[in-house]
Amino acid sequence: MQGTYTGNIPANDRLGIPALKMQDGPQGFRTSAETGGDGTSTAWPSALTIAASWDADLVYRWATAMAEEFGDKGANMALAPGLGMARVPTAGRNFEYLSGEDPILGAVMAKSSVKGFQDHGIIANAKHWVNNEIEEHRMSVSANVNERVRFELYYPPFEAAAEAGVVSVMCAYNRINDVYACQNNDTLTHLREYLGFDGWVVSDWTATKSSVQSIKAGLDQEMPVGVFYNPRKLEALLASRDISEDDIDRSVRRVLSAMDKVGLFDKNRKEGDPMANVTSAAHNALAREIVAKSTVLLQNTDNILPFDAAVLGDCIAVIGDEQTISGGGSGYVSPPYIITAQTGIRAALANSKTQVIYNSGKDISSAVALAQQCVTAVVVVTTTSSEGGDRSDLSLGDAQNNLVSAIAAVNARTVVDVVTPGAVLMPWCSEVKAVLVSWMPGQEAGNGLADVLFGAVNPSGRLPVTMPNKDNEVGFSAEQYPGVGRVPEAYYSEELLIGYRWYDANQIAPRFPFGHGLSYTSFAYSALSIRAVSPFSSKEENASGRTKSVVSVTVQNTGARDGDEIVQLYLQFPAQAGEPPKQLRAFQKVSLKSQASTTVEFALTAKQCSIWDSEAHRWDVVQGTFTAFVGASSRDLRLQQDFVIA
Ligand code: BGC
Repeated sequence: MQGTYTGNIPANDRLGIPALKMQDGPQGFRTSAETGGDGTSTAWPSALTIAASWDADLVYRWATAMAEEFGDKGANMALAPGLGMARVPTAGRNFEYLSGEDPILGAVMAKSSVKGFQDHGIIANAKHWVNNEIEEHRMSVSANVNERVRFELYYPPFEAAAEAGVVSVMCAYNRINDVYACQNNDTLTHLREYLGFDGWVVSDWTATKSSVQSIKAGLDQEMPVGVFYNPRKLEALLASRDISEDDIDRSVRRVLSAMDKVGLFDKNRKEGDPMANVTSAAHNALAREIVAKSTVLLQNTDNILPFDAAVLGDCIAVIGDEQTISGGGSGYVSPPYIITAQTGIRAALANSKTQVIYNSGKDISSAVALAQQCVTAVVVVTTTSSEGGDRSDLSLGDAQNNLVSAIAAVNARTVVDVVTPGAVLMPWCSEVKAVLVSWMPGQEAGNGLADVLFGAVNPSGRLPVTMPNKDNEVGFSAEQYPGVGRVPEAYYSEELLIGYRWYDANQIAPRFPFGHGLSYTSFAYSALSIRAVSPFSSKEENASGRTKSVVSVTVQNTGARDGDEIVQLYLQFPAQAGEPPKQLRAFQKVSLKSQASTTVEFALTAKQCSIWDSEAHRWDVVQGTFTAFVGASSRDLRLQQDFVIA
């Protein structure tokens, strides 16, 4: 209904409790034909897009700006951030999640996102708890995944959100080990007792499946309406002593104290208007900055980029779809405008003699004719996905793949920009000079792209997911995905080997590895050292997060341009631990002027050198020889050093 929110809990004036006004979603204040206000909020780059920036400060600014828009729209709770993992490359909601295929990337981003919202008076909601990795059968599928894998791979982004003080979590539609997420005592207990979450749990829309079991497991609020949690039912359950007043008080206390923590009882809180236009020039500029900083330059043969204006000549051909900028579903924000590639490139070339000529690419022969006329061609290829279903495959489709090959055959300076909700196949890579990925860039797509193409921004985006050579390269069986049986069961039998972990374990080179991304400058790594701060000791101390060792490395910008490097630390465990060959443990974005250098330090805690013991239900430090790798991607590791935990 126009002027309402995705979730509306009315105020209780007698008790002085304000209304809860919940709105989707992870890439901005959701507007739609049904809720009204189309085009009155910023269509931000998606969560996976900004994950590709590996820039925690940028995530904080993004969430802060979203919080401002939610507040001006009168909402006080954002149904964000999305913290699922890209276990299945085709999964429909990968674009909405901050983790990509790595829990540490997700954890760092989750913290910034939660703080960005909650520091600015908007309740954040970490979703979807837990193992909501696929959309196929999402309402019924059971994610069958063991405790160790959950603690090591799927829980850390949520744990980080809890550490950052997130006051609400959304339980998912799916089942975990046969029990629905919103009544799953096991996972909800882990959330509160092991991950330290002390806020309230709200169900995904219609994900509540019971009254008593859910209340006892710790579901505090049913959304969007009370089918299982309504006064009549609860009164009957109290009368029959199936639940106690304490059960209800506990949930009420959780909700109210969370609202208080984020300032909802503040008398001076300003009222917002759901129909107001809350966009601003500052937010448009930030959206543009995020696109540029999240764009990943995968390939740059002969350093064709950044474009040299002198080489472009009379014209540049811009070819391909330009309207796909976002994914679909509850996280969709209807954009106030779209800066297309041609608009962005035209603006960048405003003061030059080079004409921008556009062709949609729908008719390959006319696109080829245009590409023949100009020295340089930029081809934009796109695909998208949506909540509610997974992509059928990772292909951009024959039409677009043929288009790229046909253009590349006649134009030796072909640059391809890929707009995609996640992993994608690029069979034509070796035919073209440069390849960029813009993910789901939102309304400022073309400006952000032009900033990178012309060098206003030196790219520093890095892949948050592996780019495979072919569909289902990891060889998932139907049992693993999408699951088997009338009420589907999906077995996470790959255990810890998702994404780059699988490629490493199987010694297969992906098309482009996790963490990869080029810059217009170069960086050199030296002086890796590991300094013990305190001994790795008792088991009880393992989860403490206290620094045990410091890994330090010197990074120098050895090129002619200023640039940003994402310094990545991976750890190899002693063989008996049964961990993947190497795992990201920390990363840091550094900005370096040409020729400047800096020392990057990573704190290593006992927990980071531990594995989850599912029998004792605790972290155990692994003893033996570890190897620390530092470098520019999971497959571009420049330095390594062993250290021993005795
Ligand atoms: C989605 C949630 C969303 C909710 C409300 C559900 O279908 O899974 O992510 O917040 O709808 O729109």
